[in-house]
Amino acid sequence: MPDTRDKPAFDLPGIVPWGRRFSEYAAFFGIGDPRELGPVLDIGAGPSSFAAEAHALHLPVVAADPLYGLPAEDITHRFEETVGAMRAGLRRAAYRFNWAHYGSEENVLRLRREALALFAADYETGKRDGRYVEAALPVLPFPDGAFSLALVSHLLFLYGDRLDFRFHVASLKELLRVAEEVRVFPLLNLDGLPSSHLPGAMKALRAEGHEAELVEVPFEFQRGATRMLRLRRR
Ligand SMILES: C[S@@+](CC[C@H](N)C(=O)[O-])C[C@H]1O[C@@H](n2cnc3c(N)ncnc32)[C@H](O)[C@@H]1O
Repeated sequence: MPDTRDKPAFDLPGIVPWGRRFSEYAAFFGIGDPRELGPVLDIGAGPSSFAAEAHALHLPVVAADPLYGLPAEDITHRFEETVGAMRAGLRRAAYRFNWAHYGSEENVLRLRREALALFAADYETGKRDGRYVEAALPVLPFPDGAFSLALVSHLLFLYGDRLDFRFHVASLKELLRVAEEVRVFPLLNLDGLPSSHLPGAMKALRAEGHEAELVEVPFEFQRGATRMLRLRRR
């Protein structure tokens, strides 16, 4: 197996605007019947189509991201700028992924383009309706308890080298202010290793009386990334 200690096999230019589809979110977060969900916040949603597809199903989802100050064309442009690095990373680090779910790198790229297209088609109308909100952790522009569930996909823990421990704890506390429950996936970093921020973050939240547990999910792409973090406000 290649030694990746000196040179990361899967390196990306910053936090990339790379979005996933509703069915992928459902797997990451163990969502069975989405009709049972109350108001959901998708934070760090980027060009994911989770909110767009949820809206088509009449589900109340708000997506938030610092990118939402930009028009759809600029977000699309940023996505296109990262395709080369993502493709190269997937190839170089192919051994670090379980391909059972996606099958191939081409299928991953196809899904990302589908998500982007669904997102872009919904974005301007959704922004006017307040379903896409420009916002950045660790401070959110939503009232206390506005959501029953907040989802964080491919941001916290994954980018733990760029976002420090204090940012993680402050962000998770802020999410528990605006939502009764918070789910985060994945919990490995870009090197495919367990995030060093996770044990301390769980301890800090439990110390404030919140519930923090690791829950198995029916999905694996990064090898070993088979659990989500579930937090409940107490
Ligand atoms: C890798 S993308 C993941 C998109 C989506 N959640 C998904 O999994 O398909 C990470 C997103 O986090 C956003 N982001 C970066 N810093 C953030 C912050 N401080 N607060 C909220 N979102 C942030 C980026 O703009 C980007 O769209």
